[in-house]
Amino acid sequence: MTTTHLLDRDRVRRLFDLRSSYNAIAGGDYTDDPYPAWRRLREQAPVHEGTVHELTGYQGQASFHGLPEPDRPHFSTFSFAVCDEAYRNEELFSSSTSLGLEGDVGVGASLLTMGGNRHRRYRALVQPSFVPAKAKWWISRYIEETVQLLIDSFVDDGRAELNVDFCAAIPVLTITSSFGVPVEEALDIREALHQPAKVIQHLAPIVAARREQPQDDLISILVEAEVTDEDGVRHRLTDAEIYTFAVLLLLAGSGTTWKQMGITLTALLTRPEVLAAVREDRSLLRPAIEEAVRWTPTDPMFSRWVTEDVDFHGVHLPRGSVLHLCIGAANRDPARWDRPDEFDLHRPMKRSLGFGGGPHICLGMHVARAEMAVGIGALLDRLPNLRLDPDAAPPRLIGMYERGATEIPVLFG
Ligand code: HEM
Repeated sequence: MTTTHLLDRDRVRRLFDLRSSYNAIAGGDYTDDPYPAWRRLREQAPVHEGTVHELTGYQGQASFHGLPEPDRPHFSTFSFAVCDEAYRNEELFSSSTSLGLEGDVGVGASLLTMGGNRHRRYRALVQPSFVPAKAKWWISRYIEETVQLLIDSFVDDGRAELNVDFCAAIPVLTITSSFGVPVEEALDIREALHQPAKVIQHLAPIVAARREQPQDDLISILVEAEVTDEDGVRHRLTDAEIYTFAVLLLLAGSGTTWKQMGITLTALLTRPEVLAAVREDRSLLRPAIEEAVRWTPTDPMFSRWVTEDVDFHGVHLPRGSVLHLCIGAANRDPARWDRPDEFDLHRPMKRSLGFGGGPHICLGMHVARAEMAVGIGALLDRLPNLRLDPDAAPPRLIGMYERGATEIPVLFG
């Protein structure tokens, strides 16, 4: 693989800069710190009427999970206990909009929006490729080589911009190469994500080839997998089901891991003593990654659709309304964590909601953790005296529903 020569830097920048028009849709121009507002909201009441961005004071238009949906009433919650309760009650708080999109290709028909038994059956099909024991498979086949090649591209320069030139490239190349997509097409696919027909153009020949002759990759696993339908009949996944799953993995797995890795690096580089501790003792890298997912989860909100009229923590939620779970706020709930605004590697490990909760908890969390650990570990191994460039603007964390760093300019050597 000659990754670094094939990724067009300007194109990566356009696709992966949170402030670019490609990313404006999820509130990329929001530059304030939302946490003080979220703390006030959590202190005021468990459940509020309104969307998270309106309640936070963001005036822009924002599209994300459960948004904009202008014809439905919207409610939001900011506490750990209430978010966790909603996550665990999928009967009342459904991931499905019930729009009947089955058969289409796209996120609307994917695992993310399935419910109940159907969700369990489809998830069980792919779960074996995403368990912790499979992390080694992902690392040795896809992650390690990409990480080393990216570092090769700047190791002799003494400086680099890590957010786009490093963090952004790793997840997109991990997922596309696990599909068997050539590196030259990786960015085409990423750019076309909101136009499933274009993604299919890239995937269709691979799916057809794997149906003929399976290999040791993700598309082969999907091609060979069998699912049992409601009537007990076993069948292989259709091409449309495979494309849908692939689009979901690209959407769910590339932007998130990129931004979360940048958030983790920002947390470490702006705290040189913490970075030094992690460099000294690599067993602290995993706690650093978990703490970053708690402290600033890249996607701070996911939504559920209310299936029955219900009085929920003092607020009437009509059937069909949307309840937004502000997991970013939940992860800093002082009822669960002491000094929740502090980034602290040594706090006792407790489950956060940064990877979600309940039956739809992130399928790719072990792959994401592996990408971040291998990526940051390799930077520490290969770049001595890694530090922020004192002459450049320091990284800032921005974005409403997709949070991440602006730029991470570093020096080393
Ligand atoms: C650090 C990076 C990541 C974060 C913070 C993250 C976060 C999340 C969250 C919060 C959810 C739950 C959504 C909900 O409640 O509706 C979710 C679901 C999901 N994630 Fe991730 N994710 C990350 C990386 C990945 C990766 C690398 C993959 C795939 C390789 C992935 C695949 C998925 C899938 C398929 C779902 C839907 C699961 C279902 O509906 O059963 N994610 N993720």
